[in-house]
Amino acid sequence: MVMPRYERLRDGYLGGDHPTMNDTRTDRVEGNGAGTSRAVVFDGYGDASVLRVVEMPPPQPGAGRVRVRVHAAGIQPFDVKLRRGDTADWAPARFPQGGGSEFAGVVDQLGPGVTEFAVGDEVVGWAVGAAHADHALARADSLVRKPSALPWAEAGALGASGQTAHTSLQALEVRGGETVLIHAAAGGVGTAAVQIARAWGATVIGTASERNHRYLRELGAVPVAYGSGLVDRVRAAAPGGIDAALDAVGTEEALQVSAELVTDRDRAGTIAGHGLAEEYGVRVLGTERSAERLASLVELCVSGQLRVRIHATYPLAEVAAAHREVESGHVRGKIVLVP
Ligand SMILES: NC(=O)c1ccc[n+]([C@@H]2O[C@H](COP(=O)([O-])OP(=O)(O)OC[C@H]3O[C@@H](n4cnc5c(N)ncnc54)[C@H](OP(=O)(O)O)[C@@H]3O)[C@@H](O)[C@H]2O)c1
Repeated sequence: MVMPRYERLRDGYLGGDHPTMNDTRTDRVEGNGAGTSRAVVFDGYGDASVLRVVEMPPPQPGAGRVRVRVHAAGIQPFDVKLRRGDTADWAPARFPQGGGSEFAGVVDQLGPGVTEFAVGDEVVGWAVGAAHADHALARADSLVRKPSALPWAEAGALGASGQTAHTSLQALEVRGGETVLIHAAAGGVGTAAVQIARAWGATVIGTASERNHRYLRELGAVPVAYGSGLVDRVRAAAPGGIDAALDAVGTEEALQVSAELVTDRDRAGTIAGHGLAEEYGVRVLGTERSAERLASLVELCVSGQLRVRIHATYPLAEVAAAHREVESGHVRGKIVLVP
């Protein structure tokens, strides 16, 4: 049974009926091994060594679905948590389980009833548990067109993390002229959140280790080092006060500082500190993905207000190394698989 507090989060991650996770299991892994499409799967929870790349016939899209030849697919901490079994109580794996939720690629087959896209279209999208593969099956309404100017790696890391950042800032009602605190501002979600909040006209105070301070300045944030004394450093950096705070790390420190600095607790949220949120009176935020939201992120990219920063790219065969890097907790921007 899903614990009530995780319901919204689960729906954000798994898109309600999470059909793509089922597709991953039935369409892909029951192939005869003689096919030409590779996918990352794991057969049980564990460290990154449980990941393997299997070959099978390319999956066939059902009604309302599209098959996309993946050119790039971001990795999220969720992929790591799913593999480790950390999400088993609200998002259990279905072995053999596929991985990855965000991708960009070229439409190469249409399922019955799909009229919005044509074979050859370049798209950005999401499909839970199905993106780390040569071919991803996605619902047509979880795809938007990729402008040719948007590089593949950046487009491939927009469909999930970018939507989390956007959903969170919207839920916190961040507006122009306000000051927002973002914990873990240099990470995948944080990097997008800083730029979106700046695009909306807010001043951003972002926490990161010293080595990421120049990076945060480039993104348009005022950097502050996390660790002992954080609350005083944030106060010094934002003498007018903090209107809203987004936590993307989930530490006690981050939640405590948000709770102390944000007067209206509805405007302090976390995407990572679910176990501590109640104690500090901070909102648990989920991700509400939509084609409309993704299209607005693509527009921000085109207008130059949002850039997806790529920490590193890995070939599909090196997915375990890529997971380990995400697991280090110190990625700057995004890690992307390039099948
Ligand atoms: N609820 C949802 O819908 C949802 C959606 C997406 C993600 N999430 C969760 O949100 C969290 C962030 O995701 P992400 O993709 O942004 O992760 P990420 O890219 O792996 O975050 C890495 C960043 O965290 C920073 N960091 C590490 N320790 C820190 C600390 N003590 N204080 C402040 N920053 C610290 C690092 O900065 P330094 O290297 O400078 O230390 C690094 O840049 C994850 O737990 C993820 O599972 C939730």
